[in-house]
Amino acid sequence: MRVLLIGSGGREHAVAKLITSSRDDVRLYVLSDYNNPGLRMEAENTGGRLFVGSTTSPQLAVEVASKISPDLVVVGPEEPQFHGVVDSLREGGYYVFGASTRCSQIERSKVFARQLLWKYGIHGRLHFAAFRSLEEAVEFIRYVGDVVVKPARQVGGKGVRVVKDTKAYLSEVKSQIKNRITEEAFYELAKHEDSEFKVLVEQRVDGVEFTVQVITDGSYVLPLPLVQDYPHAFELDLGYKTGGMGSISGPGHLLPFINREEYDTSIRAVREVLARLQEEVGDSYRGAFAGQMMLTGLWGPTIIEFYSRFGDPEITCLLPRIESDFLEILDRAARGALAGAKLAVAEDTVSVAKVIAPLGYPVSKSEASGHPVTVDEARIRELGCHILYASIEEGADGRLYTKGSRAFELVCRAESYDEAYRLSELAVSYVTSLDGWPLFHRSDIGSRWLVEERVKLAEKIRNIYRLKQARGTLGETSTLWVPSGGVVTNPLLSTVRW
Ligand SMILES: Nc1ncnc2c1ncn2[C@@H]1O[C@H](COP(=O)(O)OP(=O)(O)O)[C@@H](O)[C@H]1O
Ligand SMILES: [Mg+2]
Repeated sequence: MRVLLIGSGGREHAVAKLITSSRDDVRLYVLSDYNNPGLRMEAENTGGRLFVGSTTSPQLAVEVASKISPDLVVVGPEEPQFHGVVDSLREGGYYVFGASTRCSQIERSKVFARQLLWKYGIHGRLHFAAFRSLEEAVEFIRYVGDVVVKPARQVGGKGVRVVKDTKAYLSEVKSQIKNRITEEAFYELAKHEDSEFKVLVEQRVDGVEFTVQVITDGSYVLPLPLVQDYPHAFELDLGYKTGGMGSISGPGHLLPFINREEYDTSIRAVREVLARLQEEVGDSYRGAFAGQMMLTGLWGPTIIEFYSRFGDPEITCLLPRIESDFLEILDRAARGALAGAKLAVAEDTVSVAKVIAPLGYPVSKSEASGHPVTVDEARIRELGCHILYASIEEGADGRLYTKGSRAFELVCRAESYDEAYRLSELAVSYVTSLDGWPLFHRSDIGSRWLVEERVKLAEKIRNIYRLKQARGTLGETSTLWVPSGGVVTNPLLSTVRW
């Protein structure tokens, strides 16, 4: 079976491993933006090859596909979807696993996603206001405090700022900060012309985050085990938000801090969004879909955003736990024949994934680029762990160089978090810098301490949730938020339409 995988990073390397380990008769081809040695090796080991070229060019994707006549094309990241790569390949007669441009709006436009949740009254929706101009956004944010300001489009995990506004005596300073934050979100969108709205202001919530991923062929929905992703750069959830510094999963389909009922509620919300999305855009959804959730006192499982693809490093975390023929599942989803599919997972195991990044990431990618590194793959394999190549390029001299973003992802599976944590920390030590430029990772991810912290936090949140449920006030806040399209009157200052 000939498979073309489009994408360049750690997520694609994880998917490539799942595909090549599914069966013996796979020939894997990859279209990647750069010469990722992990993806290249994965393809060459099956007799296929890696093509270097723009993954967001529909013409190039079709050209590569016409050279190799794949039985299946798998599109990993969201940007190719936004740029019409999936649509062009489908028009060319190929079976594609990946959301169409219209379906991927659910990720691309955070405003579209929020509007959909409100239009259909879906569980776990947050109040929001969307703005086309910076002036309107700045005017609005003067009057609301406890909010999150986001670029209105998915821009690869940049520009989202949480504004905790509780200390009134700091109002002057805070107002300057809020203006700056709003400007940053606005300018993040300057390079994207496909977004009508520029800034999204959203009700702030607190809680425990987790990701629920599913695979669908448009009607049948196959849930994957939950994963918790850690977006902050440094230990204790400090520092900049990144694309994700690691993740944990298991045992079973749950996490130690998310119970069956919360899992079921999340899956129900995701199923409903998928059904409504397809109605709205008039297109069938064939690919991976994910809800980035937060367990909050307001709603229980609450929707933060959606991905129209597998999460990264979420899918990495599941790599060692999936036992099914994953290629068959992807293929059936692409053909609209997923009904009845089951996903076998190593139930009594957990996994810990860790990202290794060059110092400078995520603020100064140029400083973080161009550093030679080396990996002792044999030692990592001896531990039973996998290493995935992400923002790493093979130079003309055959050495590996950082490209400034997350360089590697490591994932280890074990029967307990203690053991998976121990293995992951050992595995990290087999990646070394050759020019002395420091590499960093989060030493707390997967530790028993951090897992127990999340368990305690989730329990506190559940108590608030139960109280609100008993009072019949789920989703209600004491602030001035009302559903989008309504009018909110600030009794102190003015009336803002949103
Ligand atoms: N409404 C919210 N309340 C509290 N925190 C939020 C809210 N929205 C986002 N966040 C935090 O900001 C992070 C990034 O926001 P998200 O919408 O997922 O954007 P992206 O991942 O595209 O940067 C989330 O993972 C969460 O930690
Ligand atoms: Mg996110």
